[in-house]
Amino acid sequence: MSNLGPRRLRRDGIRELVRSVSIAPADLIAPVFVDATIDAPAPIASMPGQQRLPVDAVPAEVGRLSDLGIGGVLLFGIPSSKDANGSRADASDGVIQEALGAVGSTPMVMMTDVCLCEYTDHGHCGVLADDDAPHTMTVDNDQTLTRLASIAISHADAGADVVAPSAMADGMVGAIRRGLDGAGHAPVSILSYAVKFHSSFYGPFRDAADGAPRFGDRRQYQMDPQTPSSIDREVRLDIEEGADMLIVKPAMAYLDVVAQVASTVDVPVAAYNVSGEYAMLQAAAERGWVDATAAALETVIGMRRAGASMIITYHAETIAAALG
Ligand code: PBG
Repeated sequence: MSNLGPRRLRRDGIRELVRSVSIAPADLIAPVFVDATIDAPAPIASMPGQQRLPVDAVPAEVGRLSDLGIGGVLLFGIPSSKDANGSRADASDGVIQEALGAVGSTPMVMMTDVCLCEYTDHGHCGVLADDDAPHTMTVDNDQTLTRLASIAISHADAGADVVAPSAMADGMVGAIRRGLDGAGHAPVSILSYAVKFHSSFYGPFRDAADGAPRFGDRRQYQMDPQTPSSIDREVRLDIEEGADMLIVKPAMAYLDVVAQVASTVDVPVAAYNVSGEYAMLQAAAERGWVDATAAALETVIGMRRAGASMIITYHAETIAAALG
């Protein structure tokens, strides 16, 4: 009598039949960095395989990603100049607005990151409070809301389908929803970075998007990884304020959070496979220590298994090409 049990279902053919976790290019969202200061694509040193694009290269890139069946792109902008209020973020001739205009009508779902850190000269995600008394936070929450709503409206005016606020300002989803509705953009969805931890895994991105804080860090507004009790509250508030979809970020060290959020909310959840996670894998692959494509696929499968409907990942193109 054989001990054979679970292995029977791992025979060729049966293995594929019994699978319940799927992954398709349509589940993936590709971040795209658009840089107003360049006129040719520029590689990003800390993220091998990724580049910043000039505005006029964006339509072809979106077309290519669309042909691969990728579900959406998430645009990040590097502006022509920065100031304390991030004025270029909601300029009608700003880098994201121009990129959306250049792309025009497309089957691709066009998403935009709504934040101030790439646009402010101090590199924080909002407007700074004018005093630095110990009881005040560096970033003025309510002034920041006004800016975020205005940025979201300007992205929607330029053709964004989905806006993704990432500033971790309290009340940002409500402020943006009211702003969009008031400007005639009721159909534009909000994909909220609801659960965004203070993380070292954003390091390469800050280099890519030139958004590192010039002083201090983001602990006063991004979530503390050792305080899981804040997760439910952030999620509840964002849903109450009108978030259509939520992001959990980072993903790899936070798969427990992806699973928890996905099993408790009734809106779709996206896992954000962030820049540091991408860079680690690419670095190991460059040394021949892991197979980049296989490891990337395994990574996103883990996120799908945890319950993510969508995955924002710099591996989107590699994975989509591998899936065929
Ligand atoms: C902007 C923003 C960041 C990321 C996405 N939007 C940087 C940050 O919050 O520090 C990180 C993305 C990544 O690391 O891939 N606020």
